[in-house]
Amino acid sequence: MNPVYEKLNKCFHSLKEKVDFQPEVALILGSGLGDFAEEINIVTTVDYHEIEGFPISTVKGHKGRFVFGYVENTPVVIMQGRVHYYEGYPMSDVVLPTRLMGMLGAKKLFLTNAAGGVNTDYKPGDFMMITDHIATGVPSPLIGENLEELGTRFPDMSDIYSPRIQDIIKESGKRLGIELREGIYIQLTGPAYETPAEIRMCRILGGDAVGMSTACEATAARHMGMEVCGISCITNMAAGVSKEKLNHKEVQETADRVSKEFKALVSYLIPRI
Ligand code: HPA
Repeated sequence: MNPVYEKLNKCFHSLKEKVDFQPEVALILGSGLGDFAEEINIVTTVDYHEIEGFPISTVKGHKGRFVFGYVENTPVVIMQGRVHYYEGYPMSDVVLPTRLMGMLGAKKLFLTNAAGGVNTDYKPGDFMMITDHIATGVPSPLIGENLEELGTRFPDMSDIYSPRIQDIIKESGKRLGIELREGIYIQLTGPAYETPAEIRMCRILGGDAVGMSTACEATAARHMGMEVCGISCITNMAAGVSKEKLNHKEVQETADRVSKEFKALVSYLIPRI
């Protein structure tokens, strides 16, 4: 068996031994947004280290566990703490949890992240609905022998962020009185924040927000046929936009400042997508 698929199956069986729960929506929580998971109607949790072969996250502010439960009547699985490429894992490990949630039965993937504002109209604390992404700054998670069990060799990515869900997100933002930007997310490797020249490059390429996650997970989920959506929290202006130096503390502080509004948006959206 393909070693990537073998590892995935091992984790799947290990997880299945611990939980008997079929999620409809999978949610990945970004930096500073993790405590949303504590507010849902929790059925059970599984720490990543309890799952045999699971890649463990090391970033401060990231808890490492799956939370299973309900938002209204919708069964969800939440990744509280994601795996990043900059931690040194191969891309196949970075997207392993996403694939696992798809294998558990989740048909929809809701991605969230903290991101730097590349678009100079943005300001820290803004939310941006992701309409598309540029992932060419990182290796594709689909490189290597194709996992036929999951999807086709050359999957179409035209509508990677579901137009159907995007309409619901826009409508919901209006209803809740939460202003939503719309834009293109660029994933780069990190872990260093970008240089001002790199941010100029991102802008020339058409990017509106930059970060170190998300696009790879969207690609892997879409490969499996999941419907994908994503919202970025603009936690800081990207390098060179203002004179401010970048640091992780600012990212977390901004995420904390807007977390109430963000959580209201996510919990409203989950039963509606
Ligand atoms: N760059 C990359 N990743 C980020 C940033 C940034 O400015 N802010 C939050 N995550």
